[in-house]
Amino acid sequence: MSELTQAQLLELVNTKKIAPGNARVRQLTERIVTDLFKTIDELDVTPDEFWAAAGWLTRLGAAGQTGLITAGLGFDRLLDIRADEADAKAGRAGGTPRAIEGPLFVAGAPMSQVEVRLDEGEPKGEVFVMEGQVLDLNGQPVPHASVDVWHANEVGGYSHFFPGMKPYELRRRIETDAKGQYRFRSFLPPGYAIPPNSPTSELFEALGRHGNRPAHIHFLVAAPGMRTLTTQVNIPGDTYIDDDFAFATRDGLIVALEKNVAPAGYESLGISAPFTRTKFNFVMQNAASADEALPLTRMERVSTPA
Ligand code: BEZ
Ligand code: FE
Repeated sequence: MSELTQAQLLELVNTKKIAPGNARVRQLTERIVTDLFKTIDELDVTPDEFWAAAGWLTRLGAAGQTGLITAGLGFDRLLDIRADEADAKAGRAGGTPRAIEGPLFVAGAPMSQVEVRLDEGEPKGEVFVMEGQVLDLNGQPVPHASVDVWHANEVGGYSHFFPGMKPYELRRRIETDAKGQYRFRSFLPPGYAIPPNSPTSELFEALGRHGNRPAHIHFLVAAPGMRTLTTQVNIPGDTYIDDDFAFATRDGLIVALEKNVAPAGYESLGISAPFTRTKFNFVMQNAASADEALPLTRMERVSTPA
């Protein structure tokens, strides 16, 4: 092989092929490799720095923390901003704002009709009920919508990711009734923090950043003919409400809490004393294509053949 300049090497890397390959993958790889060659050269990246970064990526993947970094470096929110921009351009307005799915969703949570208790046993925090309807843009109920709900435990851990939790703990699906109604009981969760002593915390320490999210509850709402909605609501009063490490909080998604609500009518959720309630309607857009109505999460979308 002949001697190469940087430019000749880049040209070779970006043009070599023995088969057409995938044009989009080739295009994206070319751009990223070109940008990285430029970064290494212009910022004079040393071999030790380069191999430290490669080792960090290997550890990040092995720890299953790629999704923490995509969120923490703003990519998850960027994709939402771009989706909002595309909607605005297409004249598609209205409905509950989207908010990032995050990396901690688990498909297949147990399904209940209309109402469910997410927590079990003694309350691990303030007893809380969230209730409302799933509606379309005309205010009409969306019957038999599936409302997938998940949140952190009392120390900010998510089942399937945090040791010691039961499968699907604090994760449920609720099917709305003919009036689009749903309700669930749980406790007000605290915020989330990235795992300490992990590849993610290493980067955040080096960046001088914290890795906290304010208290929130996640939702994936799906119904035939409606555009699948991925969103979160935030609990007011959290220190990090305007300083989410994942940049995911949105104005329209901070719920109002009613304190000391009388228990009458909530017996089926095991409530017999005053509790905290929030009312929240999910407003869905009509799907513009069958694809938009697929009840799939972000990873299911890319691993499910079309
Ligand atoms: C969360 O929703 O809890 C979350 C989102 C992004 C990164 C880590 C956690
Ligand atoms: Fe979360």
